[in-house]
Amino acid sequence: MKNKIRLGVNIDHAATLRQVRGGMTSYPNMQQIAELAIQGGAEQITIHLREDRRHIQEKDLRLLSDVCTVPLNLEMAAQWKMIQFARKYKPDWCCFVPEKREELTTEGGLNVKINQKKISQMTEKLQFIGIECSMFIDPNLEQVNASFEVGADAVEFHTGHWVLLKGVKKQAEWKRLCKAAELAHSLGMGVHAGHGLDFEATKLITKLPYLEEVNIGHSLICYSLELGLKAATKKMKTILR
Ligand code: PXP
Repeated sequence: MKNKIRLGVNIDHAATLRQVRGGMTSYPNMQQIAELAIQGGAEQITIHLREDRRHIQEKDLRLLSDVCTVPLNLEMAAQWKMIQFARKYKPDWCCFVPEKREELTTEGGLNVKINQKKISQMTEKLQFIGIECSMFIDPNLEQVNASFEVGADAVEFHTGHWVLLKGVKKQAEWKRLCKAAELAHSLGMGVHAGHGLDFEATKLITKLPYLEEVNIGHSLICYSLELGLKAATKKMKTILR
């Protein structure tokens, strides 16, 4: 039987809702958001401390590194100032991601190959203090090999393109994902996946060979509005009564 796939819940977009009001509201409470996800079955909490701090702030990282009762996965750019944050707050995992200020979300995978020396030094520094490292890459064999060369514990495949494709292009991307997953596994790295996964795409991604973990954010935060707005409105009505 296939092993159970770990669910990492990315709570960045709960913080987005707070930050659109300048970060001045007491809600959403990020500890509570993490706890609700854990009560629902999240086996990991994932956050991305972006350079522009558009959602997660350093105070969220500090809080969650103290109170989170499941492993904390910090997504971050491959920059030395981010390594300092990781060394300070010691999440269980760090996932290296590419980052451009102007992009809406993480639009493609990290080019580990051209930054191999720097990423290898960073990975070593984090692993030395017990932090496991993954590389968020496109399903590209060169990038899988480069991730192995830098000593990654796992690769996380960017599923965003595959989710949006249709027909034969989608099938071709799926083959790329399968080949990349097989290579990563044969090199001894964990196989993770994430980006753009909604209920439908998640059902399909479970078929990816050797998949151990998914990290899902945007769809879950949106679904939680659909599933939770009725209860929140009812509570407000009782206050008005
Ligand atoms: N994994 C990584 C490495 C990411 O950068 C993101 C987006 O922050 C996700 C997973 C989650 O993607 P989504 O919010 O589309 O589910």
